[in-house]
Amino acid sequence: MTNGKAALITGASGGIGYELSKLFAADGCNLILVARSAGKLKELAKELTEAYSITVTVLPKDLSAPKAPAEIFDAVEAQGIQVDVLVNNAGFGMHGAFVDADPDEMLQMIQLNVSTLTTLTRLFLPGMLARSSGHILNIGSIGSFAPVPLMAAYGATKAYVLSFSEALAEELRGSGVKVTALCPGVTYTGFQERSGMHSFGLMRLGAMEAVDVACIGYRAIKRGRAVIVTGLFNQLMMFSMRFAPRPLVRRVSKWMMEE
Ligand SMILES: NC(=O)c1ccc[n+]([C@@H]2O[C@H](COP(=O)([O-])OP(=O)(O)OC[C@H]3O[C@@H](n4cnc5c(N)ncnc54)[C@H](OP(=O)(O)O)[C@@H]3O)[C@@H](O)[C@H]2O)c1
Repeated sequence: MTNGKAALITGASGGIGYELSKLFAADGCNLILVARSAGKLKELAKELTEAYSITVTVLPKDLSAPKAPAEIFDAVEAQGIQVDVLVNNAGFGMHGAFVDADPDEMLQMIQLNVSTLTTLTRLFLPGMLARSSGHILNIGSIGSFAPVPLMAAYGATKAYVLSFSEALAEELRGSGVKVTALCPGVTYTGFQERSGMHSFGLMRLGAMEAVDVACIGYRAIKRGRAVIVTGLFNQLMMFSMRFAPRPLVRRVSKWMMEE
């Protein structure tokens, strides 16, 4: 499906994005890797080009800068690369009481998780539509489905990702371009440290490995799924939440986020 095509993956230097990059590469897909850590991206590019007959372009960039999406788009165009798959994976969270959150860091998070994802999609979609072919994979979260006390703003960014992705999937039905929202539960990556989380309720209930989450996301692309929640436990939780009274959902959600 992706052999000979090109995928642009944001947040490819670690965690879920790193594992997704390896899966695309193994299928013969050329890659454009984006994150801030140039060294890690170059190392991954070397490893993948040695293992597979693909080309890998490394574009180090801070995607929380408002101009970053346009700069990425221009750099890709300048190199004459056609992006067939866009993976909007880069993101981070902030754990703790909202009132204590650093306002500048919070804006950076919203910029990265929401604005950059939206603008990259807007920029790369016309090319996909012109070719009647393409796929956009957006990384949401189980936090996309319910309010997330103690990660209130982060949870809201992920609710946006799910709403945006589902709406766009429907708008694009029949166009040849598909959209998938991958919604992981707790996954062992650098996310917890970056988000200031240590041991919290939901993590104690069980976490998944990044490689398993990436495999589920990759399979969902192949099957053209619009939304995929990773793991049976997370799926059951999301399903039962539909029938639970909202005040109970809020309270359980807070309990799960407490240290
Ligand atoms: N892990 C979980 O429990 C979990 C659960 C649900 C959803 N998610 C979502 O999964 C996605 C991937 O996260 P992860 O768990 O794999 O976390 P991770 O290991 O921390 O990886 C995050 C990736 O995003 C990149 N990134 C962060 N800030 C960036 C910036 N300003 N500009 C460019 N790249 C940036 C990081 O690279 P650099 O640091 O090199 O820039 C890294 O490659 C995120 O959207 C996250 O919200 C994670």
